[in-house]
Amino acid sequence: MAETLADAVSRRRTFAIIAHPDAGKTTLTEKLLLFGGAIQLAGEVKAKKDRIQTRSDWMKIERERGISVVTSVMTFEYGGNVFNILDTPGHEDFADDTYRTLTAVDAAVMVIDAAKGIEPRTLKLFEVCRMRDIPIITFINKMDRESRDPFEILDEVEEKLALDTAPITWPIGRSKSFCGSYYLAENTVRGADTQVEALKVNGPQAVADRLPENERAAFIEETELAIEACRPFDRQAFLEGHMTPVFFGSALRNYGVRDLIDALGAMAPPPRDQVADIRTVHASEDKMTAFVFKIQANMDPNHRDRIAFARICSGKLERGMKARLARTGKQLGLTAPQFFFASQRQLADTAYAGDVVGIPNHGTLRIGDTLTEGEPLVFQGVPNFSPEILRRVRLEDAMKAKKLKEALQQMAEEGVVQLFSPEDGSPAIVGVVGALQLDVLKERLQGEYGLPVSFDMARFSICRWVSSDEPGELDRFITARRGDIARDLDGDPVFLAQDGFSLNYEADRWKAIKMVAIKEYH
Ligand code: G4P
Repeated sequence: MAETLADAVSRRRTFAIIAHPDAGKTTLTEKLLLFGGAIQLAGEVKAKKDRIQTRSDWMKIERERGISVVTSVMTFEYGGNVFNILDTPGHEDFADDTYRTLTAVDAAVMVIDAAKGIEPRTLKLFEVCRMRDIPIITFINKMDRESRDPFEILDEVEEKLALDTAPITWPIGRSKSFCGSYYLAENTVRGADTQVEALKVNGPQAVADRLPENERAAFIEETELAIEACRPFDRQAFLEGHMTPVFFGSALRNYGVRDLIDALGAMAPPPRDQVADIRTVHASEDKMTAFVFKIQANMDPNHRDRIAFARICSGKLERGMKARLARTGKQLGLTAPQFFFASQRQLADTAYAGDVVGIPNHGTLRIGDTLTEGEPLVFQGVPNFSPEILRRVRLEDAMKAKKLKEALQQMAEEGVVQLFSPEDGSPAIVGVVGALQLDVLKERLQGEYGLPVSFDMARFSICRWVSSDEPGELDRFITARRGDIARDLDGDPVFLAQDGFSLNYEADRWKAIKMVAIKEYH
């Protein structure tokens, strides 16, 4: 019997992995794909030499674009569920891309290095998840090494993140003696991840027997304490983002990964409802809706194509169907939507709510775009962050100004940079969140458009979107401050301030003008 739409949707699990660099995100992703049967050998996701660590490495990877494509989204099927892992860039200069990706997931796995605990980037990414009430599953990695006491790590999560913890498993042994997970509530164990099913045991004593003699008493004591003192798992609290189930393991040594996949299947939510401007859209509605959260250019170096990554929010996408693009009201034929697997892409004949498909296009689609089967709704919530760095682009060959304008427009549509056109007609200003984005812009303008450029400091350092609830007030502000006003890609006005002082000064003088640092695409 054919699967119903509701069944297909309820099997989807769409998540991201958040971690401080080096905690083991790449290794864990590889192992999830490996145990999920999506790849044969770990190591296919990202060859070691290609790790994003230094500027030069990063630029090299950008050139070999194939790699970043593959890691944008990865799909695999396991135990009756369809898993979509959305990758987020490791470098914090691409934080805006990461935040947008997190708008497209239903859950996140937070990887913590057992020796280091909560690190700064974990904290930041966690805060974004909290803003959106994204349920989080915690994976304490590297238990095969010297690590902190598990209770201490749990306390740190509770204190630093103000998040209740519920350990589902307990590590059997530590560093050299680490040999698997003990399910506290079920009294089952699982060794290395080649073992598919967890085995029933006769209480902690039976588990302790697997450990060296001098560690047994401590294990029994700890697990008793964990059962007594830790909170039991409360699914509702987890789904609301107040509690995280915790697993221990070693991605490198294949421990705990299957625990995690099982947990994603059993605990993580199916595709969530999505808020649009006129109503909330439920995932199991018949009609297809989707939004674009990422654009990637030149995935195939032989064709200058762009892929828009769209998260399907409801219904079923079928290849060949027509969709309405909310921003323009125009129809778009979805003739070649694609799925991504570990090292290849494939035409997607059907995709369901929760899935992410790549839609090849030549610039029609932008970040934040909504697609529907006709209903004029627009999804909310894909954020645009005010840039931290503003520059004017200086062209070495002035004859190519028109070409530069086109190129910058394209880069801005892809979300590589933000582009602001000053009201007074002076040359455009580009804005980025991290300096590395400027390097990418420069390299791509040279490599793809043959435009050698450099950057000049702009007179401004802060950018705020401006609006007002009082009629006429915004126009008055714009007229009065014309030299400091520019328009973004959508034509929305921004106020450019020289520094924090002048921003505060103007904000004080123009109380009816709202000045915001985050704009949601609309
Ligand atoms: P990231 O994507 O979060 O930045 O982390 P990645 O997976 O690249 O892992 C960072 C380093 O930690 C790698 O070592 C990796 O092998 C190691 N690692 C990941 N998981 C575990 C684990 O469970 N146990 C241990 N002991 N190590 C782990 P590297 O030195 O950068 O590379 P390598 O030469 O060790 O591969």
